Amino acid sequence: MMDVSGLSMSYVSGRQFVQIPGPTNVPERVLRAMARPTIDHRSPEFGRLGVEVLEGLKAVFQTSGRIIIFPSSGTGAWEAALVNTLSPGDKVLMFDIGQFASGWRDMAVKFGLSVDFVSGDWRHGVDPEIVEAKLSEDRSQQIKAVCVVHNETSTGVTSRVSAVRDAMNRARHPALLMVDTISSLASIDYRHDEWEVDVTVCGSQKGLMLPPGLGFNAVSAKALAASQSARLAKSYWDWQAMLQHNKGGFFPYTPSTNLLYGLREALEMLREEGLQNVFARHQRHAEATRRAVRAWGLEILCLDPREYSGSATAVFVPAGYSADELRKAILEQFNMPLGAGLGKLQGKVFRIGHLGDFNDLMLAGTLSGVEMGLELAGVPHSKGGVAAALSYLTEAAKQSRVPVDQTAGVSAR
Ligand SMILES: Cc1ncc(COP(=O)(O)O)c(C=O)c1O
Repeated sequence: MMDVSGLSMSYVSGRQFVQIPGPTNVPERVLRAMARPTIDHRSPEFGRLGVEVLEGLKAVFQTSGRIIIFPSSGTGAWEAALVNTLSPGDKVLMFDIGQFASGWRDMAVKFGLSVDFVSGDWRHGVDPEIVEAKLSEDRSQQIKAVCVVHNETSTGVTSRVSAVRDAMNRARHPALLMVDTISSLASIDYRHDEWEVDVTVCGSQKGLMLPPGLGFNAVSAKALAASQSARLAKSYWDWQAMLQHNKGGFFPYTPSTNLLYGLREALEMLREEGLQNVFARHQRHAEATRRAVRAWGLEILCLDPREYSGSATAVFVPAGYSADELRKAILEQFNMPLGAGLGKLQGKVFRIGHLGDFNDLMLAGTLSGVEMGLELAGVPHSKGGVAAALSYLTEAAKQSRVPVDQTAGVSAR
């Protein structure tokens, strides 16, 4: 039954599988942690919460430096990274690797930055050799920042940030390195300090398992120094006021208190699971997904196995078929939204998100929905994708299983 706005009024039983590559499924523990009264954000209790989450985030960004939390989406955190470090007319190096990389470029252009936008086919990530060549050519050091989207959510391609950093070092160039980790943090290994990243940009709604609404900047000492002379206009996004207030766990304006309760819980969950286990889980689910895609006889968008994404897989439908029709069939029949093809990929690919609070059986359900949907939508494919994924997951489970001591743990009743 539909109401006047066209929304379905009938109850759909069971939990919806939100398999877009973020926002991700928010776990019960996080939902319950947020279901509390909002406290005074100038109280000592809030200060303790603020300090706890600001400190706790450091392990996830793998940094000992400062992290800033904005009440914003990831786009706000992009803007904060640019306006705090750069001045009008500054040259920045960006890469056309997908829809989000293009969005960050568009923003930089709006701020009057001079963007060298390196072209790409949207099937590869940032090429470290091009980074090295561009920076080596730039003898007068006009390039002030290199901006990289770590995991391009629109394509399921993960750029090799550590190799980009090595390329910058080989070129002996002082440009800042800014990295968007919106769909990689807490899903794919990412090391702010070790890779000498100057500004890491993130949002709450993907690997951190929270609803949308928090934006993050992790900042290096070099980025902080650059912020002293950066002349792009800023007010809401100004790091200085934030850092000043954050010393006591406070914010210069009203923070997203309930999301911070959720963040505290999510950080505890990541700590309990262990970050390395979180990364391994994402890799396992990504590999199982790719095995399913190959068994279906469909094509993975990402061409270089070194750049396969641990958090999202983009899949082509055969020429002449519509990925949007397929997604529609799966949503209507199985209540599972999948990611759409964005920009020039619209209708050509669908994206399976396998990140955040996720396990083997959720992936099995997700892939089952896709396999049934392929048949319903009449998309030519081979059977056996789900079976291929399940056998891989079963093998992986055997490898990771701690051998059971047959005599221990059996109660003598
Ligand atoms: C890689 C990447 N960058 C930027 C954004 C924009 O973030 P938001 O939609 O939270 O503003 C997204 C959103 O999905 C993203 O995946």
